[in-house]
Amino acid sequence: MAQLPDGRALPGKLFIVEGIDGSGKSTQLDLLRKWLISQGYCVAFSEWNSSQLVKATTKLGKKKQMLTPTSFSLIHAADLADRTERQILPALKAGAIVLADRYIYTAFGRDVARGVPPAWVRKVYAFAVRPTVAFYFRVPLEESLRRILDGRPALKYYEAGLDIGLSDDPGESFALFQKRILEEYDNMVDEFDLTVIDATQPLVKQQEVVRDIIKPLLVGALRAEPSAWREVLAADSVYGRYLEEVLPERSEQ
Ligand SMILES: Nc1ncnc2c1ncn2[C@@H]1O[C@H](COP(=O)(O)OP(=O)(O)OP(=O)(O)O)[C@@H](O)[C@H]1O
Ligand SMILES: [Mg+2]
Repeated sequence: MAQLPDGRALPGKLFIVEGIDGSGKSTQLDLLRKWLISQGYCVAFSEWNSSQLVKATTKLGKKKQMLTPTSFSLIHAADLADRTERQILPALKAGAIVLADRYIYTAFGRDVARGVPPAWVRKVYAFAVRPTVAFYFRVPLEESLRRILDGRPALKYYEAGLDIGLSDDPGESFALFQKRILEEYDNMVDEFDLTVIDATQPLVKQQEVVRDIIKPLLVGALRAEPSAWREVLAADSVYGRYLEEVLPERSEQ
């Protein structure tokens, strides 16, 4: 189950994926989403840094290089606060499955790598729902760099961690920044009971491991009644986006 910060259980399930850039999070979550939908579950998806509320400010701050480690951290916290209240909590209260691509551990890793105090950033995110399972896709730095840098356009300023002055060279800065984040993730495994997946394994093998872990946890998760339109939408993997259609009482609000 997913839990509110005070420990109260929510009927839905929250599965989140974490790991350094290029660890294969989005690939695995997408496969999981398609499989859950094919099984008839109501699935909502939420992505890090996707809230409309802070979009313009984040874009401006990044473009003009105005963000400091603290304001960078707070703007991402506002992003999650908005998504928590608008997407994640309503879906979990309805008993649906929520899949989140990156979650609070991304902030704990990145912001601390930027020099923000660990205890402070943990307090900032005290509002966050506790996930049912937090998957950590662990991959060596060299493998992630190879996956990410192959065929990728120039690294962006904050993405490469150029704001903290580890190196003037974007590629070198990115590698040093990711190395710091990787160390933070490894330190968080015990602290937050992260479920470690060996992300060097073949894609299909990892997906099998992920499904085996969540299968026993799906009991009681909201499923849609079989219907013709469900089949059509599921075939296109768009069903999760139409959560409100299977929860008519919510869409009337
Ligand atoms: N198991 C795997 N083995 C080899 N390559 C993989 C594997 N999983 C994913 N990849 C490839 O690695 C690249 C990064 O994958 P993906 O986008 O899923 O990573 P990510 O963790 O979501 O990255 P980001 O943090 O940048 O969003 C993609 O090109 C993907 O095809
Ligand atoms: Mg991704």
